[in-house]
Amino acid sequence: MELLKQKVIREGIVLGQGVLKVDSFLNHQMDPFLMREVGREFTRRFAGEAVTKVLTIESSGIAPGIMTALELEVPLIFARKQKSLTLTEDIYVEQVYSFTKQVSNDITVAKKFIAPGERVLIVDDFLANGEAALGLARIVEQAGASVAGIGIVIEKSFQPGASRLKEAGYRVESLVRIAALENGAVSFVEEA
Ligand code: G4P
Repeated sequence: MELLKQKVIREGIVLGQGVLKVDSFLNHQMDPFLMREVGREFTRRFAGEAVTKVLTIESSGIAPGIMTALELEVPLIFARKQKSLTLTEDIYVEQVYSFTKQVSNDITVAKKFIAPGERVLIVDDFLANGEAALGLARIVEQAGASVAGIGIVIEKSFQPGASRLKEAGYRVESLVRIAALENGAVSFVEEA
């Protein structure tokens, strides 16, 4: 997605250890016009998948998730990382390990929001090792629903997440794919 690529080139900051800082439009300040285009692009790519719900994880997945859900005209669910005070009903819980932060988080979704047979599109801001997306997919499958696809805003293709998700049989659509973050520069995967 050219618009997003240009935004990464103009505003992304490469930090050490292969991390891209994009807090001017995705991870802190958010660009609603760009997010609207992200939602439209995922909707175009997953048009044939009969999506009934979008599922993401708080917090940075919520902006691309809600714009995608709006375009698809379905609800958005965001998995919580901390147990909600009001989340007293039955919940699905999955453990997600963050390599970046070296901690495991329990992520939760209330059972009443995913019905058996639903077609759930998973959306997230970054794909690195794939732990978050795999945890979300396990929740969908626990519910007896199916994963309609996985939409990623920024894929770090030099980390194993995309291959792990594809090997597990999921359709992954990433709007920009980063080949390397080295010497302060972003290189993109050449699209065929
Ligand atoms: P994984 O889910 O693909 O395995 O990712 P990993 O554990 O490595 O990443 C944990 C957190 O760090 C996630 O956000 C992920 O989106 C984010 N992340 C990973 N690589 C980058 C990067 O290069 N740049 C930025 N900006 N973020 C990255 P999170 O902790 O859940 O944060 P948030 O959604 O609450 O903002």
